[in-house]
Amino acid sequence: MTIRQPRSAADFAAYYALRYQVLRQPWQQPPGSERAADDEAPTTHHAMAVADDGTVIGVARVHPSGPGQVQVRAVAVHPNWHGRGIGQQLMMYLEEYAAAQGFTECILDSRESAVAFYQKLGYEIVAPSHTLFGVIPHFRMRKSLAV
Ligand SMILES: CC(C)(COP(=O)(O)OP(=O)(O)OC[C@H]1O[C@@H](n2cnc3c(N)ncnc32)[C@H](O)[C@@H]1OP(=O)(O)O)[C@@H](O)C(=O)NCCC(=O)NCCS
Repeated sequence: MTIRQPRSAADFAAYYALRYQVLRQPWQQPPGSERAADDEAPTTHHAMAVADDGTVIGVARVHPSGPGQVQVRAVAVHPNWHGRGIGQQLMMYLEEYAAAQGFTECILDSRESAVAFYQKLGYEIVAPSHTLFGVIPHFRMRKSLAV
């Protein structure tokens, strides 16, 4: 398994397909709903986990969200690969990228079901945030990237 940036059109197709499959399809959201307006912005940095056979098994992105601050969004690991450290490695990759750019804080809005995952990685809850699709409560979380 390797973590790298998506590069080709095929990479991005697989990247968005997995984001849709994990984060949108289970709630009957239409294809295309997985895209964010700033996905193609030059300041948005994407990462994907690729299995040894070339299958994309995990995705995530990060973008600048304030002075010294980045926000991680759309973290998704294929269900067959949960619990094998893929999510953790994606987060470490994005945090290391952001820290190397000089950012000192990372925030995210976590689904309630993923709060414990982010807590294991050092994030703390700031406050409840939005409720997605009317049924998925989210919590704003933060972590210092300063060494
Ligand atoms: C949440 C998610 C990204 C975690 O990815 P993953 O690859 O399964 O997680 P990892 O294997 O890297 O887990 C790292 C640690 O967190 C723990 N963990 C993972 N998911 C957890 C969860 N939902 N609740 C509690 N602990 C969790 C793991 O047991 C592991 O602990 P360990 O180091 O003590 O063994 C993945 O389950 C997923 O894609 N879920 C559906 C989509 C989603 O909720 N995305 C986040 C949107 S905010």
